[in-house]
Amino acid sequence: MDAGDKWMAALRTVGTGQGLRSVRSAWRRRCADAMGLPRPGAERARVPGVAQGAEPEPGGGVVRFARSSLRVRVVAGGAVFCGWDGAEPEPSYALAGACPEVDERAVLEPDTDGGWRVVSERVLVVVSRHGAVEVRTPGGVRLRRDLPPRWWEPVDPQAQDGGGPRWVQRSELAADARFFGLGGRAAGPRLRAGSYRLWNTDPGGVFEPGDDPLYITMPVQLVVADAGSHLVFHDNSWDGRVTLWEGEEGAGSGHDRPGRCEVRLEGGPLRYWVMAGTPARVLHDWAALTGGAALPPAWALGHHHARWGFGSEREVRRVVEGYKERGLPLSAVHLDIDHYRGHRVFTVDRERFPDLPGLAADLRRDGVRLVSIVDPAVKAEPGMAVYEGGREAGAFVRDAQGREVRGEVWPGESVFPDFTDPKARAWWGGLYAERLAQGFSGFWHDMNEPVSFAAFGDPTLPRSARHVLEGRGGDHREAHNVYGLTMARAGYEGLGALRPGERPFVFSRSGWAGMQRYGGTWSGDVVTGWTGLRASLALVLGLGLCGVPYSGPDIGGFTGSPSPELYLRWFQLGAYLPLFRTHSAISAGRREPWEFGAEVLEHAGAALRERMRLLPYFVTLAHLARRTGAPYARPVWWRSPEDRALRDCEDEFLLGDSLLVAPVLEAGADRRAVRLPRGRWYDTVTGRAHEGPGQVLLDAPLSRIPVLARAGSVIPVAGAEGGVELEVWAPAAGRTGGGVLITDAGEGWERPEVVRFTTRARGGVVTVEQEGAPELAYPVRMRG
Ligand code: NOJ
Repeated sequence: MDAGDKWMAALRTVGTGQGLRSVRSAWRRRCADAMGLPRPGAERARVPGVAQGAEPEPGGGVVRFARSSLRVRVVAGGAVFCGWDGAEPEPSYALAGACPEVDERAVLEPDTDGGWRVVSERVLVVVSRHGAVEVRTPGGVRLRRDLPPRWWEPVDPQAQDGGGPRWVQRSELAADARFFGLGGRAAGPRLRAGSYRLWNTDPGGVFEPGDDPLYITMPVQLVVADAGSHLVFHDNSWDGRVTLWEGEEGAGSGHDRPGRCEVRLEGGPLRYWVMAGTPARVLHDWAALTGGAALPPAWALGHHHARWGFGSEREVRRVVEGYKERGLPLSAVHLDIDHYRGHRVFTVDRERFPDLPGLAADLRRDGVRLVSIVDPAVKAEPGMAVYEGGREAGAFVRDAQGREVRGEVWPGESVFPDFTDPKARAWWGGLYAERLAQGFSGFWHDMNEPVSFAAFGDPTLPRSARHVLEGRGGDHREAHNVYGLTMARAGYEGLGALRPGERPFVFSRSGWAGMQRYGGTWSGDVVTGWTGLRASLALVLGLGLCGVPYSGPDIGGFTGSPSPELYLRWFQLGAYLPLFRTHSAISAGRREPWEFGAEVLEHAGAALRERMRLLPYFVTLAHLARRTGAPYARPVWWRSPEDRALRDCEDEFLLGDSLLVAPVLEAGADRRAVRLPRGRWYDTVTGRAHEGPGQVLLDAPLSRIPVLARAGSVIPVAGAEGGVELEVWAPAAGRTGGGVLITDAGEGWERPEVVRFTTRARGGVVTVEQEGAPELAYPVRMRG
């Protein structure tokens, strides 16, 4: 299906009335842009020209070219900032706070051939006299070479439209480089040669691996090569494209063909950050720059069940009872837009949900939380409290003439809060008081690309729509990609103010670099099929490498009905991903584990119980993600990026340092090949040891997927009698290992407790020690 067909299919779901209104909405958007955006006039290209001099500054300096300038600045920790045409690191939606301190030791000095260089602890930056920028390891090995950029600007300076010139930058990378990231890409996690758009987009209805872009795009690339790994982030939220060409070694005449990358943006500053080192180091630097990931409350690491179309309180109780009767652990139930009154955000349909606080309290007694969907679109209905409140606060997006921008979403004709306006964020954040009073514990932000249904063209706001952009002012071309991010900020900060003692739980369909500060995300409307299952893993891994560690798919797929086998394999994968949630569309079949027959129920139950047993490990991983930037689910090359076979392995992942999970992603399989990083790995079910690096063929009967434990690991798990116990996997003879346990109160902000363990195998005896303690404070279960 092409995009047009998909939207028509989606419109069939919303009904004819809405379908017609979405024709009107698309038409309005087109007219608004025809009037509100400057017409493109004649343009002229510009390149930097020849270097004419340089001024050192703390941390680097500015190189002046005939027609531009380049600022190079190394900050504490080793990240390098490059800003052309006077661009500074701030203002930025990605940065967690003020730009980090500069590294005073880094200095700009003349290089040979009229160029300049900045020597720093972690990298060497060499600027050629024509403006090419090379980033090398301290040993001199080239990681990337950014060619002199090119800008296009109007010949008539009066025709400048506020966004600055369009620009393109091409880069060369190692021939063996592999690309990852760019936000959530269904075709990943490794990004093949191709063109990837930077424009957050609801694909409409459902997406498949070929669909691109999706809900979260970000100009963040992680490049892994023999020479080393690095992350590059173009800090610019405008629409654009990244095109990748993979290199080839020894092509043709025996010479390498380098990997190449082109970043093309429709406006906004040309500025970027480069961070080099091991993947762990790079993600650490990235988290230091853009902020640690919000810590989910412990219950959010359990199992969630959602559905668009529970339809009534009675049905919610029936489903929760179903879990309980069968002894299936459940942590949260999510209510979708059908619990709203006529799809109006921050309202309740009291006929179908007469007593939400009562329902929430009953569920809570059984350890189940209620999570509410929150859409940004507000029905444009005079007299409706949310609409009137927003108008009073001056919170809605306006056009160039100062009129409210109207679009079409679930409740009908709607307006959109401008979350780039601090006062709109403050107003919106206060609205969560109503949700808290209804008994909700968590929040699921949806439709925040933002979506406005459109029968044709881009299903979002007009590009000419005005935004406050923290007081700088601008339009939707700049604000679009940060809409979801700033909505997440509004929700997170609002909840923090309303319920200061609890950690907010927010996850959001759309977002941008830095969104992890406010919460996580989920796959969106993934197609029900084996390709959708594969895409689910690609999204989680790719987002993790962009600094967003908490995410997961709609288990079973969003649409239709999965076969029992597909449902089970999806469930088994989901049990090892941070957000473990079943969800589906209103027209889709059931997703409760007991709806697929006795065999599926038995095996899904086992996966669920294993997830709950691993909860202390997940809590530990959540803390580690916040502190170190390391995602819970990591590609298998995480600790050995030099292993090329691992670099190309996309169908398995590491869960933390200790576990390797090899999901079954195809129909009919009862074994699968598993690629192992170096070291010894134990099959956690059979206990059999396998030596890596290499590949082994492992059994994957319907009852389970292969999960291996790294020799020497200490994995904190829930003990049968409650409390935490340590599962210890014997190190290989003469080797050591270890692990960490981080515990907290489950909610709230109290300081977590960190306990470290080391393991040793000497003379056939395995010992475990707890750092700083004469003896272990936890029971141990020896394995392997
Ligand atoms: C689109 C979301 O992606 C989906 O999860 C949700 O069920 C529907 N909107 C309805 O709210």
